[in-house]
Amino acid sequence: MATKKATATKTAAKKAAPAKKACGKKACAAKASAPAKKAAASKKVPVGSVKVYHEKDADLGALKGKTVAVLGYGAQGRAQALCMRDSGVNVIIGVRPGKSFKAAKADGFEVMPVDKAAKRADIIHLLLPDEKHKEVYDAQIKKHVKPGKTLCCSHGFAYVFKTIVPPEGVDVIMVAPKGPGTEVRRVFEEGFGCPGLVAVFQDASGTALQTALAIAKAEGLTRGGVLECTMEQETYEDLFGEQNVLCGGLVDLMKYGFETLTEAGYPPEMAYFECVHEAKLIVDIIYNKGIAAMNAVISNTAEFGEYYNGPKIITPDVKKRMKESLERIQSGKFAKDWLREAAKGAPTLAKKREQLSAHTVEVVGNEIRKMFERK
Ligand SMILES: NC(=O)c1ccc[n+]([C@@H]2O[C@H](COP(=O)([O-])OP(=O)(O)OC[C@H]3O[C@@H](n4cnc5c(N)ncnc54)[C@H](OP(=O)(O)O)[C@@H]3O)[C@@H](O)[C@H]2O)c1
Repeated sequence: MATKKATATKTAAKKAAPAKKACGKKACAAKASAPAKKAAASKKVPVGSVKVYHEKDADLGALKGKTVAVLGYGAQGRAQALCMRDSGVNVIIGVRPGKSFKAAKADGFEVMPVDKAAKRADIIHLLLPDEKHKEVYDAQIKKHVKPGKTLCCSHGFAYVFKTIVPPEGVDVIMVAPKGPGTEVRRVFEEGFGCPGLVAVFQDASGTALQTALAIAKAEGLTRGGVLECTMEQETYEDLFGEQNVLCGGLVDLMKYGFETLTEAGYPPEMAYFECVHEAKLIVDIIYNKGIAAMNAVISNTAEFGEYYNGPKIITPDVKKRMKESLERIQSGKFAKDWLREAAKGAPTLAKKREQLSAHTVEVVGNEIRKMFERK
């Protein structure tokens, strides 16, 4: 796709409405225990109503003298543990023997089995795969979750869908960087931070939010800004986004585009450029400057095509199905289906991965990407 153009900026982004009073700690905690659908279904939340915290709102003192056990040393575990340690937090790692265990050791952490780390910790930060939370929590963590401790996570799945039911007397919080682990760490090392979300699910101490903000600060998130939400909001929105737009949605759109061109006899290598490779170029502009700015740099032909054909492809019926998807998420149906699949050893996931790796879009993509390797 050709790019142009012009400085012709379209409408400037509308100024956000003035910030309304944010949902206070107690209100959030009350919402958090409400049934699934309530969190998002009933009201349209106005722009600017979310409370945003910055550096000055968070105090690392809340973590003074405390031990944070990061359980799991994968994408998020490694990034968050390294950032917290660099900020002076006492971090230990709990993970099973294997690749992650070795990686945490190599990074200089004190590493131990999950149950030992949970026992020693004041703050238990669960960064295991969501589908493993219940099994590991029940077997190794639960017995160490005593009053006065804090349970922390980066995605509310386990609490919202009740695979973990925390006891009374403990704080339950979420600190969720809005980015993959590699990005969290990269931006932190540059002296800035990924934006993030914080939520309080259970506030036994009365200071749960301060603990969450301190962890967010230690990870650099408050440098970018941290939004306060409920765990339901984070969980439902996160699942919705990845299923409808970012992963499901985008991937199927790319595959259909690629298949349409190749089945019509066009060279797969060129179809890959048009339907997959160039998506990054477009998304990068949207990421940095927004949709109108993207439209300002593509050609007039491309922009007219967007308005001419986009609504013929992504029809109102798609939105209807998105609403159905949101309902499946809010009702817990998706979580039930995913946990059932995971309990069987995830055979569907394995089959889909196999099918995808054999798809021409992947075969061709592997070759095309080599053209961009700097040797
Ligand atoms: N990835 C993201 O971009 C992202 C963003 C925001 C939030 N989150 C959330 O962060 C959490 C962690 O996700 P992740 O992507 O970091 O996961 P991940 O990369 O898959 O890492 C999972 C870690 O858990 C360990 N583990 C798995 N099963 C275990 C078991 N039975 N006992 C002990 N350790 C075990 C793994 O160790 P082994 O090496 O031994 O398997 C690995 O260190 C999830 O709640 C996720 O929703 C992720």
